Amino acid sequence: MKRKILVTGGAGYIGSHTTVELQNAGYEVVIVDNLSNSNAKVIDGIEKITGIRPAFEQVDCIDYPALKGVFDKYPGIKGIIHFAASKAVGESVHKPLLYYRNNLVSLLNLLELMPEYKVEGIVFSSSCTVYGQPETLPVDESAPIQPALSPYGNTKQINEEIIRDAIYAGVPYKSIILRYFNPIGAHKTAEIGELPNGVPQNLLPYLTQTAIGIRKELSVYGDDYSTPDGSCIRDYIHVVDLSKAHVVAIERLLEGKSKDQLEYFNLGTGNGVSVLELIRAFEKTTGVKVPHKIVGRREGDIEQIWANPRYANEVLGWKAAETLEDTVQSAWNWQLKLRERGIM
Ligand code: NAD
Ligand code: WQD
Repeated sequence: MKRKILVTGGAGYIGSHTTVELQNAGYEVVIVDNLSNSNAKVIDGIEKITGIRPAFEQVDCIDYPALKGVFDKYPGIKGIIHFAASKAVGESVHKPLLYYRNNLVSLLNLLELMPEYKVEGIVFSSSCTVYGQPETLPVDESAPIQPALSPYGNTKQINEEIIRDAIYAGVPYKSIILRYFNPIGAHKTAEIGELPNGVPQNLLPYLTQTAIGIRKELSVYGDDYSTPDGSCIRDYIHVVDLSKAHVVAIERLLEGKSKDQLEYFNLGTGNGVSVLELIRAFEKTTGVKVPHKIVGRREGDIEQIWANPRYANEVLGWKAAETLEDTVQSAWNWQLKLRERGIM
């Protein structure tokens, strides 16, 4: 009997890739997504890759009765991976209430429903943004949480506290909080990938759209940081590596391997890569030039962060495997596929 996992936000970038890996690992997946930042065609892409069409319910996680209806319709949900959230940092500054409502109420609804439906565990999508600019690098899970620089980042911190307090209060379920660094790239089949609405805020989708000619030039936000080449440093992790970590995490919860009722893991490669290094890696790997110019710093950017992934490597038994070159190539293949399909 396949164990049933609810994947909220499963039509999104990371959720769709995680659904593929869950199906590959033999899980039955139920996707809940309100399609506020994705398209139902993603479900077709998942089916094309695995040959299994996941159940899909277009439901808003902040709609308690509708969400409860999903648990009634699909009895026996054993675990939840909660991706559903609004995630645009800049937008959150201008629409804080939308972000607090969406990102907090969706989690509260799930946590309240879990005991009633005997759901054993929840994996939560957090972000390295909770660390702010760490004092020491690489950053491990013991690093202090710093005041959030955006309402979005604050929703992640508050979500972590909500889960922590629920666990302290003695709820019957367990949780694993995964703090992602910078997920990039796409599935090797190019059937699914990152499809940002409008002008991409994140580096790699803007870079690939520039490389293919949709954007005129990539702006590099600052080269006057205290880094070797002056541009910001991040830990770019292949989205498939990240997705595989979610399979390991949900297995850990459902097979009773968790050491504590609540665990935290940094999911990164452990390698810091600067903006200019990423551009060069893309150009060298794909042979495609990326027109770019140095402009002023972007407000809210931290200078440099990369993970110490040792705890996830040793305790989860998971390690990022994809090279930076393969990762940027996968992003380019996805961009080419979008062009081939006339999508952009
Ligand atoms: P995404 O926007 O591609 O996916 C989120 C999905 O959730 C979308 O399909 C959207 O339609 C859906 N959604 C949003 N609100 C919903 C609601 N109320 N009910 C149902 N569905 C809803 O984003 P992503 O990049 O896949 O990120 C997934 C998660 O990982 C988010 O929680 C995000 O905060 C977190 N995260 C992302 C990054 C990143 O760089 N992409 C980094 C760290 C953490
Ligand atoms: C990476 C680097 C930019 C665009 C954000 C969120 C984080 C998480 C991941 C959700 C930075 C530079 C970017 C461009 C550039 N999202 N850049 N030109 O800011 O590290 O993290 O996305 O959880 O919470 O903060 O990612 O891809 O936006 O930027 O020079 O056009 O690329 O300055 O140094 P970031 P990013």
